[in-house]
Amino acid sequence: MQKQWYSISGGNRLEGTVTISGAKNAAVAIIPAAILAGECCILENLPHIQDVNTLEFILSQLGAAVDFTTGDCMRIDPTRITSTSVIVPEAAQMRASYYLLGAMLGRYGECDLALPGGCVIGARPIDQHIKGMRALGAEIDIDEERNILHARAKKLVGTEIFFDMVSVGATINVMLAACRAEGLTVLANVAKEPHVVDVANFLNMMGASVKGAGTDVIRINGRPDLHGCGYAVIPDQIETGTYMIAAAATQGDVIIKNVIPTHMEAVSAKLMMEERPRPVNIKTLVYPGFPTDLQQPMMAYLTTASGQSTIHETIFENRFNHVRELRRMGASISVKDNRLARIKGVQALHGADISASDLRAGASLIIAGLMARGTTNVSNIGYIDRGYECLDQKLSALGAKISRLSKQAQGRR
Ligand code: EPZ
Repeated sequence: MQKQWYSISGGNRLEGTVTISGAKNAAVAIIPAAILAGECCILENLPHIQDVNTLEFILSQLGAAVDFTTGDCMRIDPTRITSTSVIVPEAAQMRASYYLLGAMLGRYGECDLALPGGCVIGARPIDQHIKGMRALGAEIDIDEERNILHARAKKLVGTEIFFDMVSVGATINVMLAACRAEGLTVLANVAKEPHVVDVANFLNMMGASVKGAGTDVIRINGRPDLHGCGYAVIPDQIETGTYMIAAAATQGDVIIKNVIPTHMEAVSAKLMMEERPRPVNIKTLVYPGFPTDLQQPMMAYLTTASGQSTIHETIFENRFNHVRELRRMGASISVKDNRLARIKGVQALHGADISASDLRAGASLIIAGLMARGTTNVSNIGYIDRGYECLDQKLSALGAKISRLSKQAQGRR
């Protein structure tokens, strides 16, 4: 097995232009959603990242004809699907495989699914997904031994569902199933992230009737059939924020193209620069608040601020795994109850050998490496490949000294 890592020689200003790829968290929902159509869908602006490739593999395993060989365009023909059983290890390697539940229930009334994996940033239960599916009339059983979920629904019938907490995944998943339910479904206390709206727009392009996405209540009138369509996924809000933070962290001068500025307001408000980053207090919130997916990159940026900053992580209970790695680079960070981080600005970080624990922690460590004096080696970069397209190429084009290195891991004989 190959061991790969990024080697970064820090201290270079990022300068030039970078183009943002399609949104990962929209793409990983829209690809399964294409199953709901009785015809082909053509999806554009899809990022070439691991999670998209995994979904392409899973859909092919189910019998769909999937072609992702022409640039950022994927053609999906779901009419040849012959199985509703997604009990493959790949499904347990990512979080968004759970969207296959809503799509399969909506289209076929059944699904056997390996429970999802994903970044270890918290317990990440799916009780709200199950609550929503059961409310629509599905029978859901979980085989705890084998970590498999079995779902059956003779018929899905629209109803009112109030989510106990705002959940991006549950909002989208139940929206998928409700598109094919009989009658009206009203979802309340829903997520309003840009990718939730993007999925709703895609469903409507397939002939669904989804109204109110981006507000607190979504109304869905079920349709007996949905048709194929062409659709381009929105630009990635989190990739955009990552490059904004990387540019600010290196006192750079970067033009970021293919962006929707309104998606970035919470981040722009926190990136004030003088000689050094200005200290700020951040509280992660559901959209339009400061996104939890950018608190880790932001923490790297704040390690050399001209004072003390705080980051209060309100969404996930275990999203500070990057702190110990930043400390090894000289950062001064204290954490209380695994929810509140205090970051005392230091003059500079120094290079170190560090390891990514999850996708956005990896992005944080890359940014720290770009800022640090000396060389930083970031290992476990498979996490980063799940969510950032061509990261090293895009950063190198902006003047970063970053290389992707690998060596044959000495496997045990
Ligand atoms: C999505 O995860 C994103 N992943 C995450 O991005 C993102 O951090 C998160 O939304 C919040 O914006 C994808 O879209 C694939 P949630 P998801 O359901 O759907 C709890 C990245 O880096 N909860 O909004 O799993 C949950 O534990 C990834 O791109 C329940 O308790 O997030 C969490 O504390 C990381 N029960 C909170 O709600 C449920 O049934 C928000 O989770 C569902 C969620």
